[in-house]
Amino acid sequence: MITIANKLARKELIDMVPYQSARRLYSSGSDSSAATRQNKVWLNANEASGSGTYQINSNCINRYPDFQPENLMNAYSAYAQLNTENILATRGADEGIELLIRTFCKAYRDSILICPPTYGMYAISAENHGAGIVKVPLINNQLDLESIKAQVGQVKVVFLCSPGNPTGNLLTTDSIKAVLEMFDDNAIVVVDEAYIEFSPEYSTASWLKEYPQLVVLRTLSKAFALAGLRCGFTLANSDIITMLSKVIAPYPISAPVAAIASNALAKSGLEQVRNRVQETIILRQQLSAWLTEQTWCESVYVSDANFVLFKTATLECKNFIFDCLKAQGILIRDQSKQVQLANCLRISIGSERELSLLKQTITLAFNK
Ligand SMILES: Cc1ncc(COP(=O)(O)O)c(C=O)c1O
Repeated sequence: MITIANKLARKELIDMVPYQSARRLYSSGSDSSAATRQNKVWLNANEASGSGTYQINSNCINRYPDFQPENLMNAYSAYAQLNTENILATRGADEGIELLIRTFCKAYRDSILICPPTYGMYAISAENHGAGIVKVPLINNQLDLESIKAQVGQVKVVFLCSPGNPTGNLLTTDSIKAVLEMFDDNAIVVVDEAYIEFSPEYSTASWLKEYPQLVVLRTLSKAFALAGLRCGFTLANSDIITMLSKVIAPYPISAPVAAIASNALAKSGLEQVRNRVQETIILRQQLSAWLTEQTWCESVYVSDANFVLFKTATLECKNFIFDCLKAQGILIRDQSKQVQLANCLRISIGSERELSLLKQTITLAFNK
């Protein structure tokens, strides 16, 4: 039977596969309480392993929040060292991606450019909107500048991801500048900095004055340990922010989100981020070193973020590791369907205990 949804929906949505987010693949259950979550070790979504605790005041919850809550904007402005007119707070960086495509790409006419293997939501948002997708794969995890240059004039938005997900490494500063210069005034060049707190000295946010076509995406989901909050930021010149503000929902940031996010951006919150980043980098180095020593591990990707990608020797080996971890409730991310990433798995840097459990489980499985 043809359902009303099938009959009336845009035809291209009928066969479209939605983004297989970590939590869609494995949900945390109907109640996402600590008890339910404690049954599993979540190393598949590049979240932080623990969060701070925040008190919120729900007194004014009968009122709509400000379009861009002032406390939050001032807090992020101080953190990012930019004026508030250069910042748009969104429901995660994911909403920033979607807004950029909806604002700059005419459906069924314009295209975006992505450099796979990369974050899946650029393509999903483009597909949802009816924008074309031009793919210029990375070469050795860096941009293929020649092939990107061949697309000048063909695309409206270019998505670069640095540090890249799922590869983990930073793109070179020179290559990002080269892309900005080659597209000049005929495409928006987005640098997705979701993981930049793990390598803050490489942020491109300070280039905004120099490059009006640059847009930087940020999030509180990673180093700030607030993935459940859904709060991100789009940084750009004020004309771009004004344009995106015409497309975004009327009240994108709820009052509790604004209150918690402002707290996380205050002095003590930032101190916690610095400590978390330091601990994560140490654990990441230990995990990478351990993986490198394993006979079944063919290569370990260099990571500048809070996760490690590695390639196993064979498909069977990749499945064996993924399945033995899953059987013990340890969830990591299979990246093997992405271009160039056959037999690759990605592990988020969880707590020391979680990573020890992961290593023990794999070691035991191979020694059985
Ligand atoms: C590269 C990249 N960009 C954006 C996002 C989305 O972040 P948010 O949780 O803020 O929507 C992610 C999440 O994993 C990511 O890896």
